[in-house]
Amino acid sequence: MDMKDKVVVVTGGAGFIGRDICQQLAAAGAVVIIADINEDSGRQLADTLKGVSGSLTEFLPVDISSAKSVNVLIQQTLEKYSKIDAVINAAYPRGANYGHKLDDVTYLDFCSSIDLHIGGYFLVMKEFCLAFRQQGFGNVINFSSIYGFHAPDFNVYEGTPMTMPVEYAAIKSAIIQLSRYFAKYFKKDSIRINCISPGGILDAQPDSFLDKYNAKCMHKGMLDPVDLYGTVRFLLSDGAIHITGQNLVIDDGFTL
Ligand SMILES: NC(=O)c1ccc[n+]([C@@H]2O[C@H](COP(=O)([O-])OP(=O)(O)OC[C@H]3O[C@@H](n4cnc5c(N)ncnc54)[C@H](O)[C@@H]3O)[C@@H](O)[C@H]2O)c1
Repeated sequence: MDMKDKVVVVTGGAGFIGRDICQQLAAAGAVVIIADINEDSGRQLADTLKGVSGSLTEFLPVDISSAKSVNVLIQQTLEKYSKIDAVINAAYPRGANYGHKLDDVTYLDFCSSIDLHIGGYFLVMKEFCLAFRQQGFGNVINFSSIYGFHAPDFNVYEGTPMTMPVEYAAIKSAIIQLSRYFAKYFKKDSIRINCISPGGILDAQPDSFLDKYNAKCMHKGMLDPVDLYGTVRFLLSDGAIHITGQNLVIDDGFTL
């Protein structure tokens, strides 16, 4: 699918998943705005991607938990490119003491991740949708997770320091439902809002975890970031023009 002339902003664009999406979009000829709080990684990625397939790629800093910062990102992009076709929310803000087992999660820890992650996705959706309404079209892709709708199998984490954080379950289910809410609210404005819910992505996890996780999948098991791009590309394309408010699951059958 031709991405030429599409202007796509990727929040969390310098991250593990965001970086791959930016690479693929740049290779497909899109104008890619890598938007991230991590300026060093973002600028480095932009330098690497400059000139890939003749695409325009640049880094713009953003903190998705600041309305001012999100609006500066929108204004700078519009001033330069006159339109924004899509925003992809792939940031992963983590609050204080994020990632502990449930017994050790305090009220403040819980709230701090909720504030940054749900609050940040809410702000990006809200501010971009208001700008999209002005231009008469727009497309939002939010990254949720299988853990936004599926109860974790804690057995796969046994014997490892890993867990599936309770904050994450709350955050990712909220993102699926917020996407439906926004899709309905902005339906009359020709703005589509959808979610992608990936399963686990391979990133040097312990073998004992991988063995148990992969046994629950169809053939690949843990996925690579590149396995998500086909769905991103589809949701950006006219082939998905009548799809809004949906959650597309990419998990190699893990949750079935
Ligand atoms: N990695 C996985 O296994 C996995 C699986 C399912 C879903 N997801 C989802 O995919 C998305 C991306 O995950 P990832 O693994 O690439 O995470 P990551 O931590 O590798 O990257 C996230 C990026 O977000 C940026 N970021 C953090 N706080 C920010 C803020 N306040 N403002 C702007 N940018 C900020 C970071 O600098 C980083 O570059 C997340 O929504 C995550 O929940 C990840």
